[in-house]
Amino acid sequence: MSSEDYFFPLPNIKFDQAYLRDFVHNEITPEDWYIFDCGKLRWTVQESYDTVRSECTSFKRTEWFQELYKLFKEPINFGDVLFTRTPPPGVPPHIDRNRPVAINFPVIGTFKDSPILFYDNFDRGSEVSRFYHSDINSQTGENLAVMFNPQKIHGVVNEDDRSRCLLSIWWRDISYADLKARWSDGSLIDWEQNEKNKYIKVSKV
Ligand SMILES: [Fe+2]
Repeated sequence: MSSEDYFFPLPNIKFDQAYLRDFVHNEITPEDWYIFDCGKLRWTVQESYDTVRSECTSFKRTEWFQELYKLFKEPINFGDVLFTRTPPPGVPPHIDRNRPVAINFPVIGTFKDSPILFYDNFDRGSEVSRFYHSDINSQTGENLAVMFNPQKIHGVVNEDDRSRCLLSIWWRDISYADLKARWSDGSLIDWEQNEKNKYIKVSKV
């Protein structure tokens, strides 16, 4: 298997990371975050860490998010755009039960110390591949977004002393392989909308 069976970096998506960082700091209050029920409803995990992972879906869909929803021809449900916070030491190997494919945008964190790892089985010694959001888009200087397969066993190692915050979007009715193919042949993007977008834009490479 190649790394592309697990994840697919998106160097040609420009998403105004500073906007998202300020948005999380200014628009989301501590009460807006809720605890993510690791291992019960949406995950399959063999072990858990003694830390609390949290998510936020109750935030104002400003123009940034309107552009995001309109950018993709495969529709995204309103609530399937959310922020996640992962404290150290990270998340053990798991599968996301209801998420066939997701795109993660880095928002706040020390991304060189908090990669996403993919594993062959639920043993942390079985790592097969990893991705760092600290990889830089050479055109924009922003950290890279990534499309990945949450049906593959994956986890996060967070060696920073702060939580790592991402914006995650996902689709319910299309597989990772199919969405990746649509990304690659250009049919996933509404190019007319892309022209109008200011905050999140895809460039043809
Ligand atoms: Fe996950």
